[in-house]
Amino acid sequence: MPARETWATRIGFILAAVGSAVGLGNIWRFPFLTSDSGGAAFLVVYLLFVAFIGFPVLLVEFVIGRRSERNPVNAFERLGKPAWTFAGVIGALAGFVILSYYSVVGGWVLRYIIASATGAYFADPAAYFETVATGTDAVAYHAVFMALVAGVVAVGIRDGLERAAKVMVPSVIVLLVILAAYGATLSGASEAYSYYLAPDLGELSGNLLSILPAAAGQAFFTLSLGMGVMITYSSYLGEDRNLVSDGLTVVAIDTMVAFLAGLVVFPFLFTQGVDPGEGGVGAVFISLATAFAQLPAGRILGVVFFFMLGIAALTSAFSILEVIVSFLIDNFGVDRKVGTIAIAAILFVIGIPTALDLNVLTAYDAVANNILLILGGLLLSIFVGWVYAEGSLDEFVRGAGSSASLSTPWIWVVRTLVIAVLAVTLYLGTQDVITTLQETVL
Ligand code: PFF
Repeated sequence: MPARETWATRIGFILAAVGSAVGLGNIWRFPFLTSDSGGAAFLVVYLLFVAFIGFPVLLVEFVIGRRSERNPVNAFERLGKPAWTFAGVIGALAGFVILSYYSVVGGWVLRYIIASATGAYFADPAAYFETVATGTDAVAYHAVFMALVAGVVAVGIRDGLERAAKVMVPSVIVLLVILAAYGATLSGASEAYSYYLAPDLGELSGNLLSILPAAAGQAFFTLSLGMGVMITYSSYLGEDRNLVSDGLTVVAIDTMVAFLAGLVVFPFLFTQGVDPGEGGVGAVFISLATAFAQLPAGRILGVVFFFMLGIAALTSAFSILEVIVSFLIDNFGVDRKVGTIAIAAILFVIGIPTALDLNVLTAYDAVANNILLILGGLLLSIFVGWVYAEGSLDEFVRGAGSSASLSTPWIWVVRTLVIAVLAVTLYLGTQDVITTLQETVL
């Protein structure tokens, strides 16, 4: 066995973890879900979920990864509990489903970079989205996006992931701040802010049963939880890191980017008179394209925005591919380049149906986020909280400067609150998915 690669620089791990977390989930999925689910009421539940469920589960994954130094499928055997391997397999399955359609949405973004430069969507943004969202072109751009992801993964941890994340994450943040500042000057800004930021408590309690699974799925998706990405990344980690502060950094930056994305998208939506409830997977594309078509310097703004979205999507997508490739390398000694190309080709094929029919894309999205990721997170939490408890606590406090005093509160939150809430959420989410599938299929 060759020595396992580790992060080349101290900051490399954080940048890569943040690069995984920040992506289409923050900028495409978060705004349309918020707008579909009632605005500020959804935002409140989402933020609570990130803080009290997402953050502890992120630490659960860090503990498994750093302890086992393995990918999520092999981690359990390494920790002496081979019966739990299925939890890692569910995660890998979620990864397959997510990356297959994530790449299709990534393809839309590539398309919109070009369309912004040429002004292709200026005449009729809604019709333009319809033509590019599905069909042969969507399949072609899906192929291009997948090839880009494979290219970055094939180069390897040090050269690929770290260098890419170092440049991409800060530029994403800077660009969003500029666009949000611009959004603040628009005429619809104050109406937008009150929809997005002033929660209606009546609405919150009335819709809690539908808001909860949506917020949970989004919290897991946006933090890259439940499928072992964070297990894989932390498996390359030395013991000199404080897991709590690294985790807090990831959560804080990811949440800030999603929040900023809302500050960008909602003012544009309201200024264009787009009903926030209209939603759907095209909402962000259509509303922003409408905005760019009418604003001064719209072409440049459009290119900048979609380019930024593209690089954010790329860092997230390659984290998923990295999990799968890392599994092949650890188990079968597969050559990194060969493994990457083979898996990317399979994922491309699985994603094709979602590039042909938006209902299929929505179905993949719902099954992956509302069921598989939540199930994965629940299993990992049961494992760390109850099954591997002593080892978990031991790992949590390992290393100089660790937050030892937080280990007991953390494990009790995982054992009780996290497991209970995820179990309820999984039930609600599964019901939702069954109803939706019945409505779309029948
Ligand atoms: N967190 C990414 C985003 O918000 O776009 C998507 C993602 C990456 C989900 C990795 C799951 C994952 F394992």
